[in-house]
Amino acid sequence: MKNLDDLSISSEELTKNIADHVPLLLFDLRLRDDFEESHVEGSVHAVCDTDAKEKIMPNIPKDTKIVLISEPDDFSKEIAEMMVSFGLDAHYLQGGFSSWSGKTVKGRTGKTISPDALYENLDDVFLLDVRNADEFSEYKIPGSVNIPLNAIFDTKTLEQIPKDKEIVTICPHGNRAMVANFALEQAGISSKTLEGGLAGWNQVLKPVTVVDGPTKVIQVQKIGKGCLSYIVVSNGDAIVIDPLYPFEKYSDVAKEHGFKITRVFDTHQHADHVSAARNLAKHANAKLYFSKYEGYEVDANFVGDDDEISFGNATLKIIHTPGHTPGSLSYLVDDKFVFTGDILFVESIGRPDLRDQAEEFAEKLYATLHDKLLSLSEQCLVFPTHHGEGVLDTDGAFYSTIEKSKKLPWLDLAKQEFINKVVAITVPRPMNYRKIIAINKGEVPLNITEIPDLEIGPNRCAVDSS
Ligand SMILES: [Fe+2]
Repeated sequence: MKNLDDLSISSEELTKNIADHVPLLLFDLRLRDDFEESHVEGSVHAVCDTDAKEKIMPNIPKDTKIVLISEPDDFSKEIAEMMVSFGLDAHYLQGGFSSWSGKTVKGRTGKTISPDALYENLDDVFLLDVRNADEFSEYKIPGSVNIPLNAIFDTKTLEQIPKDKEIVTICPHGNRAMVANFALEQAGISSKTLEGGLAGWNQVLKPVTVVDGPTKVIQVQKIGKGCLSYIVVSNGDAIVIDPLYPFEKYSDVAKEHGFKITRVFDTHQHADHVSAARNLAKHANAKLYFSKYEGYEVDANFVGDDDEISFGNATLKIIHTPGHTPGSLSYLVDDKFVFTGDILFVESIGRPDLRDQAEEFAEKLYATLHDKLLSLSEQCLVFPTHHGEGVLDTDGAFYSTIEKSKKLPWLDLAKQEFINKVVAITVPRPMNYRKIIAINKGEVPLNITEIPDLEIGPNRCAVDSS
């Protein structure tokens, strides 16, 4: 083992190593703001968290020289000692960042692509996911290829990477992907990191106009998670149903089209994503509406069965549709469009087992579907709050009709058979669902910076009847 007293590297030695093109991983452990203000050219910002300890360090080859930078140097010294105890060739910049006499640069580490820019260029890039195989199988960006970080350092596996496409490396937050960029660069392959990783990807919102008549329906999709939300406009007066973060997107769309958001609704207490209803209503100075059948600890207008609300020249009728949650509401606009939350999807029906009492919920779900939703006009368009993986869009949007919904699996079953099937479903619950529900109820304060991490992972609100 290395002598732990001898892990420091002076500014002069490091300058020489860089000039001599010694393969180096330069990790800056300071706060991101300090890093962006000024950092050693070629260094990457790194967070020394559990993910780094468990998923990055074991995957760095033992002969790769690592230099850590902090200010003062105590922290980098401590981490270098820990890395050496794992068998890595780690060092730290003596005297910390302030002792660096070489070239510095400002801003983020150069080679990144924002989630929005990636979305715009999806067809032109090679998506290289560097997480472990088990993480990849759980959730991924469609079309991405998995080469775990440790394999990236093995030049043989790099043959799978095309030469004619831009490479974008993907991991949960961008840290592992940065290390992968380094490994690729050593092999002469240039790449970019997805900024904020999959957590950042999950926050991309895409608006698609579905109905462009006197009443306009814009579906706003959270493309990384399959969450759907809506802006419905009549005579310049807009309502928003099930808004998602980042909520500023809805105001941007309203501004662009010249309408005003006057009311914000949630269909139910969501378990898989943080509702942006409260913050959007505040931001847009709009009225906020929640189900009166669900316990909220916030100021809002609480509505229920048969309530009616007018906006522009349109009328929204509220239908209590329990079964996914006890208080779920569906919103029927002008008898033409029904916003079903997580009760009725394009490809499936809602799952009733996110909370306890699955049997009772399944019975309610049966009644909701047969007595309330499927009895609407056959031409009525169905707009759900999610779509599953692999569900095909119609001109870029996800919606159905009552006529098509009647043909979904299980809807031809007799009541008891339906209940037995629904109760038997065991689909894993969304990650972090307890905390998300508590935030959406208003029980726990929301820290907006936590949202990408809370929402990481797929949505799991539908039943799998395949
Ligand atoms: Fe839900």
